[in-house]
Amino acid sequence: MNISEAVASRRSVRGFLPTPVDAAVIRRVVEKAARAPSGGNVQPWHIDVVGGARLEELKSIMARRVLEAPKGEATDYDIYPKQLPSPYRDYRFQLGEQLYGSLGIPREDKAARLMWFARNFQFFGAPLALFCTVARTMGPPQWSDLGMYLQTLMLLLREEGLDSCAQECWAIYPETITRFLETPATRMLFCGMAIGHADEGDKANQFRAERAELEAFATFHGI
Ligand SMILES: Cc1cc2nc3c(=O)[nH]c(=O)nc-3n(C[C@H](O)[C@H](O)[C@H](O)COP(=O)(O)O)c2cc1C
Repeated sequence: MNISEAVASRRSVRGFLPTPVDAAVIRRVVEKAARAPSGGNVQPWHIDVVGGARLEELKSIMARRVLEAPKGEATDYDIYPKQLPSPYRDYRFQLGEQLYGSLGIPREDKAARLMWFARNFQFFGAPLALFCTVARTMGPPQWSDLGMYLQTLMLLLREEGLDSCAQECWAIYPETITRFLETPATRMLFCGMAIGHADEGDKANQFRAERAELEAFATFHGI
């Protein structure tokens, strides 16, 4: 697989087969992804990989937690700006329409949408999970480095025949997750990630998120 194929075939998978992921593979990918660049080579990412019995434990904690605290916990950061302007809000809206459209859940059926959203907290059935935390002292430049690491990791997963879904929804349960991972108070949770083999038959995997056209986000000067 070349880089273009890895980039083109990576997509957010929201329905996984129970097929386990080899421990050696995930170790290799987590290590290799650290070749991602970071400003000043600060390497601000910390990665927790969770599988096996520990993942089952987390899934059962979360099955209870989403019922106890359906709106989540006190959060450390806003996932989106309070006012998300156009065109960004339109892109977000389109994604919701595509996703829930492919699942056959109409916009008015908020309860069904919420129930489906809660599948995030079971990692969409994935057999492996990962969390990314970062020192609270880090600012926006270092947070962008986390993105470099995570995308590198997701592309390397493609090379291993694996699929993933980055999940910032975990940021609404930071207390539960950092307690589970025993994260020191000096670090905060950025996001989680579901990892495994896509269930191609799952309706949630049967659409492709659109992208803005080149002219909408790029300006070329002097060429
Ligand atoms: C940092 C980050 C967090 C995300 N969080 C979630 C999430 O919580 N739940 C989810 O279903 N998708 C999540 N996504 C997936 C995005 O919705 C997805 O990347 C976007 O719609 C583009 O689709 P694609 O990844 O299939 O190309 C996240 C993606 C990123 C990069």
